[in-house]
Amino acid sequence: MNEFARLLGRQLSQDLRALPPTAARWLSGSARVARVGNIAEMRAAARRALPKVIFDFVDGAAGDEVTAARNQSDFARLELRPRVFVDVGEVELGTTVLGRRVALPLLGAPMGLLGLVHPDGEVALARALHGAGSLYTLSAMASRSIEEVAAEAPGPMWFQLYVWRDRGLVRALVDRARGAGHEALVLTVDVPAAAGRDRDRRNGFGLPPRVTLRTLAGGAVRPTWSTRFVRSPRVRMGTVAADGAANAVAITRYVNEQFDPTVTWDDLTWFRELWEGPILVKGVLDERDARAAVDRGADGIIVSNHGGRQLDHAPSTIGALPAIVEAVGGDAEVYLDGGIRRGSDVMKALAAGARACLVGRPLVYGLGVGGEAGVARVVTLLREELRTAMTLAGCPSVASLDGTWLRARGG
Ligand SMILES: Cc1cc2nc3c(=O)[nH]c(=O)nc-3n(C[C@H](O)[C@H](O)[C@H](O)COP(=O)(O)O)c2cc1C
Repeated sequence: MNEFARLLGRQLSQDLRALPPTAARWLSGSARVARVGNIAEMRAAARRALPKVIFDFVDGAAGDEVTAARNQSDFARLELRPRVFVDVGEVELGTTVLGRRVALPLLGAPMGLLGLVHPDGEVALARALHGAGSLYTLSAMASRSIEEVAAEAPGPMWFQLYVWRDRGLVRALVDRARGAGHEALVLTVDVPAAAGRDRDRRNGFGLPPRVTLRTLAGGAVRPTWSTRFVRSPRVRMGTVAADGAANAVAITRYVNEQFDPTVTWDDLTWFRELWEGPILVKGVLDERDARAAVDRGADGIIVSNHGGRQLDHAPSTIGALPAIVEAVGGDAEVYLDGGIRRGSDVMKALAAGARACLVGRPLVYGLGVGGEAGVARVVTLLREELRTAMTLAGCPSVASLDGTWLRARGG
């Protein structure tokens, strides 16, 4: 089967080379991304560009995907209250995150295995975010290693990791993040075990991605992706594979075997001793947990439900945010991810108390459609939508956003 796939890939790449330059440019994605006008359109384009098994891995969520849907629909339940007679000739979108200046309040969320979507994977995301004056959070499960990404995409970076059972591995990862100049550790705490993702189960999604009849059938009508995939080195977890942790097992099994479900608050204290820089705890939805994390030395809280990919029926992040902001009371920075699909969503999250938002799937839709250019297009779209929303609402800077700009529909 793999030999057949290789032959098919070779044939497809020959066909691509034989195309006139305009058609080749179109297929490579750079022309396609320029015509995409919003995130919903980028998602639709990604669905057309990627095999179903890959699109579903990115787009899908846990269970009935109720939480994933609410992440978005709960934004729609909030109204923005515009003010008038305000000078909005210049709208300031810049802010600081953990003391670092960023040009916009939008950062890259950590996401693993993006090499499945495009061979540039996490490097493309990092470059696009750096290009926009922002920063990227690199996942320990990324397909490119810490060192590769640092070399190919120099710029401000945070490192996200889980708590592996093997604390020696965790310690080594922290050392490598330090060596690569990462500015903060993001500790994701909402994966004590793998969640049930029905789309992945139905599609037979596994690691490493095997070329099955189904992938091939999905890929055959997507020549650009198939050609890239077959010509690229095998996708693996670039950082942890080097330590021998990634075998040819399904992700679910990997997570259940490798991640430690017995983590307690003492482990946060252990991380606090291990890492001298800022620590953010990602995956907090309860204000008591947010307060406890800050009391144990966390510098930031990322209000996140993993994009609805872990506990289905957990609260939406925009719903959980206000109580957490109140509980933290300015003792740490609070961030939000999940469901950001419009610039106005960023404005609402900031008005509700978030320092900045992390964005996940939209960046990967852009990656699938046009590599780094596609990711850059997504960042531009969200930034310009945010600027427009702020201008129309009469809000001159992200620093002036607070709860007075929001009203719950019907409230
Ligand atoms: C393909 C994919 C892979 C992800 N991998 C990770 C990961 O390795 N670590 C992590 O903390 N979160 C991971 N997440 C969750 C994101 O960091 C983020 O919480 C979520 O995508 C935000 O929701 P959004 O996609 O609606 O923006 C992943 C999400 C996706 C879509």
